[in-house]
This record gives sequence, structure tokens and C-alpha cells, in this order.
Amino acid sequence: MATTRVTSNVITIERHILHEQEAFPDASGTLTQVLYDIALAGKLIASRTTRAGLADILGAAGQENVQGEEVQKLDLYAQQTIFQLNDHTGRLAVMASEEEQDLIHIPEQYPTGKYVLLFDPLDGSSNIDFNVSVGTIFAIYRRVSASGPGTLEDVLQKGSEIVAGGYVVYGSSTMLVYTAGHGVYGFTLDPSIGEFLLSHENIRLPDPPMYYSVNQGYEKYWTEGIKRYTRWLQGEEGASRSLSLRYIGSMVSDIHRTLLAGGVFYYPADTRDPKKPHGKLRLLYEANPMAYVIEQAGGYASTGRGPLRDVEPLDLHQRTPLFLGNRDLVEKAEEFIAKHDG
Ligand code: AHG
Ligand code: MN
Ligand code: MN
Repeated sequence: MATTRVTSNVITIERHILHEQEAFPDASGTLTQVLYDIALAGKLIASRTTRAGLADILGAAGQENVQGEEVQKLDLYAQQTIFQLNDHTGRLAVMASEEEQDLIHIPEQYPTGKYVLLFDPLDGSSNIDFNVSVGTIFAIYRRVSASGPGTLEDVLQKGSEIVAGGYVVYGSSTMLVYTAGHGVYGFTLDPSIGEFLLSHENIRLPDPPMYYSVNQGYEKYWTEGIKRYTRWLQGEEGASRSLSLRYIGSMVSDIHRTLLAGGVFYYPADTRDPKKPHGKLRLLYEANPMAYVIEQAGGYASTGRGPLRDVEPLDLHQRTPLFLGNRDLVEKAEEFIAKHDG
């Protein structure tokens, strides 16, 4: 009697990453291990987000972070989890996080390694108490310094140098989405077995796109070019079609939807806060990794004036305007900005 194979399509993230590694015979397996550690961090953080209201994990931790924002307890838990899973492995030269002012050095009792990890431990934290999806964002680079403790130069690398990047989205399901430069793969956490299983193979941005995603509450602070671009997305300014608006306020969720449904997500520079002339999102651990995923799925990411991943970083927490999604939609934003904003 033919037995149906019940495990034929069960591909865990570990098996997928190992299979990917086979294409690189000289690979040491270190990058594979770093990706494993990020998947483990995602499982640990997911275990808290799914019961945030019960585990005294809601609410503020009673301190401010480098961004001057109120730190949520889950921010701290996520930060500590990622740090403690990576500080002793000998795989990293240095880390940097949204939640830490300076470089995060490997404690001197541990060896350093050849990779650099940048991360936003919990993105969308302001939404936690309202049960809105949040996420973790990560970017992995090769160190550029020769050896010993990692340096600022190791961290301030252009997005075009990224080796692997992606995110974990803690939503109606927990998903890990990553790329190592050979397509974008999505894994859904099966809590009953504690495994991320391959659920989205080689994700490509759909065309035609479905949504545009921006916080229109700040419209009065936008430039003329951004205002007209938004009108165009709504079917005016000579557009041939209009898109529907979706904005969650958690970038990981907004970009995950853009990746799977097609569209454009943008957080433009605005005149609201003179201290933040380049908008709110951070280049190193928010914009660049998400740009890498979108571009590996056939899309494009821009500052509004040119390719985002060409920007030479000058500061750990530098902010940048961000437009990403279907290439034609993002290039249209560049067109409106060039035409109306000089
Ligand atoms: P974080 O929670 O890591 O500080 O990031 C929040 C970001 C991003 O997730 C989202 O797109 C943006 O803040 C929303 O900002 P607005 O509320 O100004 O739209
Ligand atoms: Mn963030
Ligand atoms: Mn954050």
C-alpha cells in the first residue's frame, strides 16, 4: 500500500539554510550559525509577544532610549535576548542596535568573529499595548577591520555591502523572512513543534501592486513633490489607476504586506521636527535590511533622490527618508520629487 509521505514538504529553516550553504563549498558555516541564532531569538521573543498581556511584559520600562523614545519592556527583553544569544559565540566582531547609543562590543572574555550584526530588536514598539503586530529587523555584514574588537567602520557600511538581512514579524502568525542574496524566503513558526517551517519560497513582489502605505497624518509637513505623488497614488495627477491605503504604523508589518501584496511603503522627510530633517526611520538597522529584502524580491528602495543602499552612513543612528516597493511606484516618487522639489 502506498504510504503518503507526511513529512515531504516539512522544511525547517535550519534545513533550508544548510541547503543554501551547500552552494558555497568554501563556506565555513558561520553565517549559517548566525542565522540559526536569529531564528532562535525570534522564537524566544515570539513566546513573549504572544502572551504580552499576561507576562507583565506590557507597558513602559520607565526609561528612555537613545532616540528619546520611551522604552517598552518588550524592547528590553528583545534587546537582551539578541545580545545574549550572540555575545559569546565567536561569530561576531561587533553589534549595534537601535536601543544602544554606541557600538555593542563582544565582551573581552569571548572571541570575536568575522560578521557584524545590526538590529532593531523590536520595531513598532508603540503598538505593543494595542495588540498590533511588531517585529525584529536584522542586517549582517562582513567585518572590514582586520581582527580584534569590531570598530565603527565595521558598522557604518553601505546597504549594498549587506550579506544577509531580514525580519521576524510577530503577528497573527510569527514569520521569519530573510535573504542572503539568492532570493527571499519566508518561514512560519509552528508553535506546536517550535520550528520555523518554509511557507513562502522565493517571494517576488506581485504586479499589479495593491496598496500604498504612508502616515497621511503628517501630510501638511510634506514637500509639494510628496503631496503630488500621494495624489497620483490615489488616481489623480494623470494616474491610470488608484491604490488602496493601508498603514499599520509598524514598519515590519507594513513592509511585509508590501512584499506579499505589492505596493509602496514610504516614510518621507518632513518639516515636523527640525531635529529630524530626514524623517524618522533609521538607515542602518531599519531601512537598509528592509531595502535588501524588497530588492531581492524584485523591487526597489530609494531615499526619494536615489538608491537607498548607496547611501554612505556617517552615524550609527542616522535617519533617512525611505520609499520602497514595486520599482515603477518608487521611481515615480523620485520623478515627482525631482520635478516639484528641485
Ligand atoms: P520603533 O518602534 O523601532 O521605534 O520603530 C517604529 C517606526 C516604524 O515601525 C513605523 O513605520 C514608524 O515608527 C511609525 O511612525 P509614525 O507613528 O510616525 O507613523
Ligand atoms: Mn524600528
Ligand atoms: Mn525598535
